[in-house]
Amino acid sequence: MATVSAARARSARAQTKEDSGVSVAIPSRREFLYYIWGASMALLLGETTAGIIWFALPRFGVGTFGGDFIYPSESVPAVPGSAPQNEPVGRFWMSNAEEGVVALYNVCTHLGCLPKWVPSNNRFECPCHGSKYQLDGRYIEGPAPRSLDRFRMDITFDNGETAQTNDNGDPIPLNGRAIQTIIVHTGDRIKRAGQV
Ligand code: FES
Repeated sequence: MATVSAARARSARAQTKEDSGVSVAIPSRREFLYYIWGASMALLLGETTAGIIWFALPRFGVGTFGGDFIYPSESVPAVPGSAPQNEPVGRFWMSNAEEGVVALYNVCTHLGCLPKWVPSNNRFECPCHGSKYQLDGRYIEGPAPRSLDRFRMDITFDNGETAQTNDNGDPIPLNGRAIQTIIVHTGDRIKRAGQV
């Protein structure tokens, strides 16, 4: 008798009921608990994944390599064509070339050594395999496959005008304007195509 009652109960739970013309499947208690468990696991998995992504994403502060670097305007070489200024924290050279101001990544494009500015030769020279670059980072000779990479910059001039490095990384012309602020985006590196 008890077996018959249990079978009826199961049948009743599995039965679909007609309600306003719509069939609704009633889950058993076990099915309901499975749904709850599945939803909890999905939520836990989502939170864990979000946490891993959050901690894995790089975060760079102002003034650290990889972030924005507020460069002191008085440190920009005043005379076009004069020796560049090394900025070891930001890992770049600030050059004032004939065409304008440019921030050069201080890593050789051959195998990653650090080229030095050689005043007597008026160029960058890599101590490892002898690649040489002009003041604006353009390739001269050696095994390097391309010119020095450049960082994008934002410049605000004293007269209120602003300028931004273009996608080609070309120097920003000063045209006699005094720099008020200059921000070097060391997380935004522009690779020059080939040896130009
Ligand atoms: S690493 Fe600079 S020339 Fe090889």
